[in-house]
Amino acid sequence: MPTKKAASTHIESALLEKRVFKPSKKFSDAAKIGSLAEYEKLYKASIKDPEKFFAQQAEELHWFKKWKKVMQWKAPFAQWFIGGKINASYNCLDRHLTSWRRNKAAIIWEGEFGDERTLTYQQLHREVCKAANMLRSLGVRSGDRVAIYMGMTPELTIAVLACARIGATHSVIFGGFSAEAIRDRVNDAEAKVIITSDGTFRRGGVIELKKHVDNALKAVSTDGISGCPTVEKVIVLKRTGTEVEMWQGRDFWWQELMNEASDKHDAVPLDSEHPLYILYTSGTTGKPKGIVHTTAGYLLGAYLTTKYIFDLKEDDIFWCTADVGWVTGHSYVIYGPLANGATVMMYEGAPNFPDFGRFWDIIERRKISVFYTAPTAIRAFIRAGDEFPKRHDLSSLRLLGTVGEPINPEAWMWYHKTIGGGRCPITDTWWQTETGAIMIAPIPGAIATKPGSATKPFFGIEPEVVSKEGIPVKANEGGFLIIRKPWPWMLRGIYKDPQRFEKQYFSEFPGIYFTGDGARRDKDGYFWIMGRVDDVINVSGHRIGTMEVESALVAFESVAEAAVVGRPDEIKGSALVAFVTLKSGSTGSEEVKMQLREHVAKEIGSFAKPDDIHFSDALPKTRSGKIMRRLLRELASTGNVKGDTTTLEDFSVLEKLRQVEEE
Ligand code: WT7
Repeated sequence: MPTKKAASTHIESALLEKRVFKPSKKFSDAAKIGSLAEYEKLYKASIKDPEKFFAQQAEELHWFKKWKKVMQWKAPFAQWFIGGKINASYNCLDRHLTSWRRNKAAIIWEGEFGDERTLTYQQLHREVCKAANMLRSLGVRSGDRVAIYMGMTPELTIAVLACARIGATHSVIFGGFSAEAIRDRVNDAEAKVIITSDGTFRRGGVIELKKHVDNALKAVSTDGISGCPTVEKVIVLKRTGTEVEMWQGRDFWWQELMNEASDKHDAVPLDSEHPLYILYTSGTTGKPKGIVHTTAGYLLGAYLTTKYIFDLKEDDIFWCTADVGWVTGHSYVIYGPLANGATVMMYEGAPNFPDFGRFWDIIERRKISVFYTAPTAIRAFIRAGDEFPKRHDLSSLRLLGTVGEPINPEAWMWYHKTIGGGRCPITDTWWQTETGAIMIAPIPGAIATKPGSATKPFFGIEPEVVSKEGIPVKANEGGFLIIRKPWPWMLRGIYKDPQRFEKQYFSEFPGIYFTGDGARRDKDGYFWIMGRVDDVINVSGHRIGTMEVESALVAFESVAEAAVVGRPDEIKGSALVAFVTLKSGSTGSEEVKMQLREHVAKEIGSFAKPDDIHFSDALPKTRSGKIMRRLLRELASTGNVKGDTTTLEDFSVLEKLRQVEEE
C-alpha cells in the first residue's frame, strides 16, 4: 500500500487541493441539504445511532407490516428491519398511484433509431401487474430465480419489477455477455425462467439476444454439465423482428402472454430480508460472484441516495446512462428513481450512434436535468471532440454525476465546463456492486467538490482508511478502504457460497467489510479513491497507484486514455508499463514517449516514470467499460494473453496489443 510519501500527495498538494468548487448559492438555496453544517449535523447523528437514523428514514417507505428489530449483526451476516413485510415493486409503483403522480411520466424511453415511448406511473403499474401474472402463469413462485437478458427497453424494467412484485429473485445478465457467460450465471443461480428478447439495437446493428440464450441452453461446459438444466421456460420479447427459433413448450412470446394476462395483481408482502436479486460481478478469480441483495435494506439505500445525492426535484428528468445489466442500472435506472416517484430517461442504444452527439442531442430534446455517467464515457467524448456537445443546448442540466472509477481531474474539468457549462455541481459517487448503493459522494448543495475526490460519506456510512494492521492512518496517508459498520444496503452474501463471502470481504480485517480499494483521506476529511489494491504497484520501494500515473498521463495534451500495470523487474521489484491511447490526430513516437515520462516525473516524481510505454488504438475493456488490467499485466510481463476473455468488448484490441508487443 502507498506509504506516507505516496505519489498521491504530490499530485494532491501540487494541483488538486487548490481547486475547490463550491455549489452556487442558487443551487444550495434550492437543495434539500444546503450547507456543510447541515450535512455534518445529520451525518453525526446518523453515525452516533445508525439504527435510529435508518429506522426514521425507513418510515418513508411503504410497509405492509412494520419491523420488530432494526438490525442484527452476526459478522459477517447482517439483517435489517427484521420482522417487516415490504414489497419493492409496490414502493416503486402503487405508492405513487394515490396522488397526481399516477399521471406523471415514470419512464421516457428512446430507441436507438429514435422511436419513443412514455409510460406514466399508472401505465407502468399496469404493465408490471400483467407481467407478474405472466410469470405466475408460467409457474414462477416466490423464492424462484428468474434470469433476465434483455436490451434497454421499458420491458426490462417491467420484467425486473414483476419479479420483485411476486418475490422471484431476479438475476439480470448484461446483454453484452456471451452464451457461455449466460450459462454459468443461469446455472449458478438455478434460474427457472429466462426473460429475453429477439434482439436489441446497438450501434446501428442488432445484438441477437435470443440466439445467445439458445446457445447458452445448448452449451456444454468443460465440467460436463450440458446447457441449463434448471430452465423450464423462456419468454421472448419481440423487439427487433429478428428471426428466432422458438422451441415448442419452452419458448413463449412476451407479447402473446402479456395479452392474455390480467392487469390486476396485488404485490406480495415479503420479508425485509427476502432476496431481491442476484447480480454477478467479477472477482479476483475467474468465477464470477453472485452478489445477493435483499429487499428492504437495499430499497432504502437506493431510495435515500437518489433522493439526497441527486437532490431530486419533482420535475427532474433523471438520466443514468448505465445499462440495467450492471448494479448502477439496478439502483439508478430502476429502484432509486422509481421509489422516489421520479421521471427516468431510458435509452436503448450506443452513445456514439449515429455519432458522438447522441447523448447531448437527447439531453437537449428531452430537457434532461440530472445526468449520471461513467468517466470512461467522458474520456471517450473528450477524444471524439468538443464539436459534438457544442452543437447542443445543454442548459436544462443542473447536476452531473460520475461512477465506476476514479475520474481524472482533466476529465472532471472537461465535464464541468463543456457539459455542465461551469454551472452544475458534479457528484463523484463511490460505491460497488457489493455496497448496493452509493456510499461516498458529495451531497451537491452542501459539500464543495475537489476534482477526483468522491468527498464525504453518505449518512450512516462509516468508511475509514486503515493500515495493513487495521489501524487508521493519518490524513493523506494511503491505506485500505474499509466500512466500519454494517449498513442496510450492503450485500448479504455471495450466492450459495458463504465461505467465499467471508473470506473475500471479512477476513483481511476480521469482521469488518474490506472494499478491496485503496484510498486516502485528506485533511478536510475528503476521500480519494486510489483504485483496487491489486492495482497498486511497488516500484523500488515506492508504492504507486496505477490510477495516479494514469491520471498524470491523461493530463498530457495528446493522451486520450492510459492504463498502467506492473511487470516483474529484477532490480526494482516491479516496473511500470503504460498502455496509452492518443487523441485522434496524434501519433506515438520515441519523442512522445520521452515527453510522457518527463510529464509523469513532473506530476508525481521520477520514481513514477513508466519504464515501458506502448501506444495502442484502444484499450481492452470489460463490457462495463473497465480496463482489463489483468490482461494488460499478463501482456506486459509475458508478451501474450491466456485465460478467460469472455468479458472483452473488443477482441481485436487485444490482437493489436499483442502485435505491438511483438514489434
Ligand atoms: C469498483 C466497484 C458502483 C457501480 C459501478 C461499479 C471503483 C466505483 C468509483 C468512484 C473511484 C470508483 C472502485 C470500486 N469505483 N466508483 N466514484 N471513484 N473508484 O461497480 O463493478 O462493483 O466496481 O469501482 O474500485 O471498488 P463495480
